[in-house]
Amino acid sequence: MSYKEFSYFYDYFNYNADYDALFNKIVSLAATQNVKEGIVCDLGCGTGELAFRFNEAGFDVIAVDNSDEMLDVLFDKRDEVGAYGVQILKQDITEIDMFGTVDLFTCTFDTVNHLDGKKAVQKLFDRVSLFMHPDGVFVFDMNTAYKHINVLADERFDFIEDEADCHWQNTLIEEENRTKISITIFDKQSGEEYSEEFYECYYQLDDVKAMLKKSGLQIVSLIDGEDFGPVREDSQRYLFMVKKEQ
Ligand SMILES: C[S@@+](CC[C@H](N)C(=O)[O-])C[C@H]1O[C@@H](n2cnc3c(N)ncnc32)[C@H](O)[C@@H]1O
Repeated sequence: MSYKEFSYFYDYFNYNADYDALFNKIVSLAATQNVKEGIVCDLGCGTGELAFRFNEAGFDVIAVDNSDEMLDVLFDKRDEVGAYGVQILKQDITEIDMFGTVDLFTCTFDTVNHLDGKKAVQKLFDRVSLFMHPDGVFVFDMNTAYKHINVLADERFDFIEDEADCHWQNTLIEEENRTKISITIFDKQSGEEYSEEFYECYYQLDDVKAMLKKSGLQIVSLIDGEDFGPVREDSQRYLFMVKKEQ
């Protein structure tokens, strides 16, 4: 599910996200498979934090999202930094259509969880497999079932900042393997209030492995997505690197 007005506040409230660490980890993982240059396609790119880093590092970047509001922010940021090497595409990542192959696909910060269930994730994996260069890799993360059930479940977060407040309420719907997220933002400058809802789905690791295999993708590396160490029972995020089955 794509973001609406929340897009305009995404960077403002996302100050805890360490994009440098994530970028460096992805680069080093990809390098182990000799993917060190070429075309990067960031799926569900949001405001482009990762895309701009890849652009600066000399990759040709395609940034894909299907939220008009996110893309609005992305176009503005691209203008600000003059990062015209980043090509922006409005597409649904479960139906991507490319002109050629991609060396490195990325999909981060829970974007896969935002897809509407297993069928959608399978479609994403199929499209990535179709457009990935035979020697390319796909690096993506995913919030775990453990995190949804034991950490996020029914939690409320209140971010009170100078320019805006954000109230974030999770509702675990365990029988549907997903969490409803309700956000209310109060913009202190304009006096306006925005509310939106979306869902994050979660999956058992074995199901993800089966879906990857069905799309002809094999796991090269699977680590904890937060400390980049080995996956544990209580890992809150997985970081996968997969390539085409040889
Ligand atoms: C949690 S944000 C992550 C953004 C970015 N990857 C990052 O690391 O900050 C999820 C993004 O995925 C996008 N998204 C969700 N479903 C999508 C879909 N089916 N096709 C394209 N983009 C999608 C949303 O619009 C949003 O920008």
